[in-house]
Amino acid sequence: MEPVNLSDYESAAREKLPLEIFDYYAGGANDEITVQENLSAYSRLRLQYRVLRDVSQRSLATTVLDHSLAFPVLIAPTAFHRLAHPEGELATARAAAQAGTIMIVSMVATTPIEEVAKVNATIPNAPCLWMQIYILPDRNFTTEMVHRAEAAGCGALVLTVDSPVFGQRERDIRHRFHELPDGLSLANFTTFNGIAPARFEFKADLTWEDVSWLRSTTDLPILLKGIVHPDDACLALTHGVDGIIVSNHGGRQLDTAVATIEVLPEIVDAVAGRLPVLVDGGIRRGTDVLKALALGAAAVAIGRPVLWGLTVAGEAGVGNVLELLRREMDLAMALCGCSSIVEINRDLLRL
Ligand SMILES: Cc1cc2nc3c(=O)[nH]c(=O)nc-3n(C[C@H](O)[C@H](O)[C@H](O)COP(=O)(O)O)c2cc1C
Repeated sequence: MEPVNLSDYESAAREKLPLEIFDYYAGGANDEITVQENLSAYSRLRLQYRVLRDVSQRSLATTVLDHSLAFPVLIAPTAFHRLAHPEGELATARAAAQAGTIMIVSMVATTPIEEVAKVNATIPNAPCLWMQIYILPDRNFTTEMVHRAEAAGCGALVLTVDSPVFGQRERDIRHRFHELPDGLSLANFTTFNGIAPARFEFKADLTWEDVSWLRSTTDLPILLKGIVHPDDACLALTHGVDGIIVSNHGGRQLDTAVATIEVLPEIVDAVAGRLPVLVDGGIRRGTDVLKALALGAAAVAIGRPVLWGLTVAGEAGVGNVLELLRREMDLAMALCGCSSIVEINRDLLRL
């Protein structure tokens, strides 16, 4: 049956993927309480909609850091798209560009950033890509990655800060899923200085000093991904970053961490309009997008649903996942009495 919502895509992907790959994508840390909380926190929020507001003409268009988006849903960085589909990140990039939104390409992609950028450039009026990075213990490799992202035309860097070490993902431990299958690699790591492969390892001694260092290496806007505490949002303000993504890594790092939508308002209040705040984790419905915007997010990002779409039908599947969410968001706006993104505010939520 044709999927009619994002959850249908998850079911169809579960049928299609080998269990260890499905579990790698779907799973989270330990008891997966945060994976569930990210979802259920949205369903606890109730909309108090407005009526009689002429919603016959609606626009979902918005801008984030001066980048125009057809609607406020970005693609969160996720690793290993070629485990889902042979075209991997290239298919995802085409779908994002066609939909008029930004793909944040994972540093741990199975396609090099240059190839993803080349595909993105073939789509007329495509928004630019953003590149997600980790600061590795080897600063030289990190610098090289930043320069490659700049040369590839990426419009921003997304520095993930919630991963000084790996979370304990018990589904992967049970399946002994620790290596990519033959033929796939960490494509951005296969050469370093054109010579040796780089090693991927997290930097356990990562601090704000590393953020300042990264700031000094590039003029690209930097967003910090993985913030859930308002005090960290305030520190971000004093370290020259350009945006924040409220994220708990889709519940894959610290289990029992707070649901992102629950902390979004505190973080929005802490930064008080000085930076755009985005949020990811558990967004599966147009009403979820609307709720995040009502609580002050400039835009949201989705992770797993993209992997489900990619599994089911490659580029077309990702395109349809984005289109389903866009249509649901449009419907939610109409039924809430909103004709444009700027009309969405906290008054729509019964808190
Ligand atoms: C399979 C998988 C791989 C991921 N890989 C990365 C990554 O390489 N870098 C990163 O910053 N976040 C990564 N994330 C986290 C996502 O960017 C995002 O925070 C999360 O998926 C959002 O939650 P959602 O899947 O509920 O939409 C990954 C998430 C998943 C599910």
